[in-house]
Amino acid sequence: MKNSSNRSANGDLALPRNYIVSPANFELETEHIFNRHWQYVCRTSEIMEPSGLYRFELLNNQLFLARGEDGEIRAFRNFCRHRGSELVTSENCQTMGSRIQCPYHAWTYDRCGALLSAPNMMDMDSFSSDQWGLKSVHCEVWHGFVFVHVGEPSESLTEFLAPLEPHAVDWNFESLLVGVEIVYDVQANWKLIFQNYSECYHCPSVHPALNRLTPYKGASNDIAAGPILGGPMMLSDDCQTMSSDGRRVANCLPGLSEEQQRMVAYYTLFPGLFISPHPDYVLLHRLERKTVEQTQVVCQLLFHPEAMAEPEFDPAAAVEFWDLTNRQDWRVCELAQRGIKDAGYEPGPYADLESVVAAFDRYYREQMDTAC
Ligand code: FES
Ligand SMILES: [Fe+2]
Repeated sequence: MKNSSNRSANGDLALPRNYIVSPANFELETEHIFNRHWQYVCRTSEIMEPSGLYRFELLNNQLFLARGEDGEIRAFRNFCRHRGSELVTSENCQTMGSRIQCPYHAWTYDRCGALLSAPNMMDMDSFSSDQWGLKSVHCEVWHGFVFVHVGEPSESLTEFLAPLEPHAVDWNFESLLVGVEIVYDVQANWKLIFQNYSECYHCPSVHPALNRLTPYKGASNDIAAGPILGGPMMLSDDCQTMSSDGRRVANCLPGLSEEQQRMVAYYTLFPGLFISPHPDYVLLHRLERKTVEQTQVVCQLLFHPEAMAEPEFDPAAAVEFWDLTNRQDWRVCELAQRGIKDAGYEPGPYADLESVVAAFDRYYREQMDTAC
């Protein structure tokens, strides 16, 4: 929902058609972007006990998280080192005990990835269990957010997210719990969703309700270049948060300054996460590429545990508001996808209010070009 009053788009044009509709470009993105960036998976609180496991996929990476006996969260490729069977399945994910046992021939691993037993093989001279531990991928946690990197990271997750560190501390991201989740299947390329979130030029026409709560000209950007972009929007005088009646659904998050209690901030983390701190909750959108023109968006609202423990806790007004706003956004993203499919499509010019979209495009094209 961001726009900019502090940077002009300076004549940038939208991305060429190929980037939005070409399956070949979609494949190139896997190597040039997704294998080279930290990707958000889930909140630490979503790794359920007693199994301590969380199964997920990132296109053709079948992975799972495991909370080790030492408390550390690790990410592994979800195949057995014997003959490749999937280990953590949708059926056993929540019921597996502290050991990870393959459903095929019962090789068994601990939650740190070591092979503990392989029936009839452990006493073979040629067999060394040390060689056959689970394959890991890089995994780091930042204020309760679990990220993985399926390639070789050029910087730590903490370094990557350094521009957002003050917000993470002020909003106490670490303590927040998932209160609500809604999953959407959007028939649009992931970049159209990114671009849509990055400007509020569309807000008066697409989101009349949102525009009443945060008038689109009250936006600014405190991060205007690179993989993290965005900034705050000020709430109207007569409203407390983004909800269907403009009233908070919980107390303000502890420790926020007076100014922070009067604003909403919108940040994009390339390539797959939006974080939007509100006075009383934090909104997340996680984007999962499915095909060149299909993206799954997982939308979550995070709350302070004390708010969630209140008997009268009821986030419905915030959920209703964001569900409506999300659906309004997905509709225009899908319209854009369909229009850009036309063989005669020509990219148009950005307004000054779309400078963050232009900054996203620049970073995206740099990644695609430099990785060649
Ligand atoms: S495939 Fe896992 S034990 Fe054989
Ligand atoms: Fe929008």
